[in-house]
Amino acid sequence: MTNKKTKRGKFITLEGLDGAGKSTHIPSIIALLKTRGLEIVSTREPGGTRLGEQLRALLLHDAMHPETETLLMFAARREHIANVIEPALKRGAYVLSDRFTDATYAYQCGAKGVASNKVKQLEKWVQGDLQPDMTLLFDVPVEISRKRLSTDREPDKFEREGAKFFEKLRQAYLTRAKENPARFHVIDANQALDKVKVIVDKIISTI
Ligand code: TYD
Repeated sequence: MTNKKTKRGKFITLEGLDGAGKSTHIPSIIALLKTRGLEIVSTREPGGTRLGEQLRALLLHDAMHPETETLLMFAARREHIANVIEPALKRGAYVLSDRFTDATYAYQCGAKGVASNKVKQLEKWVQGDLQPDMTLLFDVPVEISRKRLSTDREPDKFEREGAKFFEKLRQAYLTRAKENPARFHVIDANQALDKVKVIVDKIISTI
């Protein structure tokens, strides 16, 4: 028996405007990581746990104060970290999350005006030192994201917001990327899917 310590896994997050196309790339990212023999945990926020998914239903469809929204996002996140993300990283798995805390800075702070120092406090409380090792930001001009929004289901409350909201969102994401250059990769997602895939694969191969 060896008592070699398991190497901690990596935490990868995907961000972008609704309609930027990030979710489209999840299957191929998983496939690529699996070729390296890694255990992959694919998850999402808000959500990722039974309670988190219940909170997601409220968050995406019920009107509420932006600070209530922020608190519920972090409540779901606390559950997600404790039950899914941290155990997976500990056993050496790679965790791929469709959105994480950068989305709170973009949506609740950037677009809805919640004070970022409040989010910073919640972030410290809920995450401690946990931060993504790598964040892929799928960036597209606002009018492109609006055009790409899925039409085969009813839009959620965020997707029903106007162009001004999305413009603030995009700027907030780009500012987050500038402030955290070591982990952020900004991807120009305003090009053909196969071209974006080549870029994504190249970035993923570096982690
Ligand atoms: P999204 O990830 O776009 O899922 P789908 O592809 O199924 O539409 O939806 C999640 C929504 O939740 C999205 O509009 C952004 C929002 N959100 C926040 O406002 N704050 C957050 O902290 C997170 C994680 C998500």
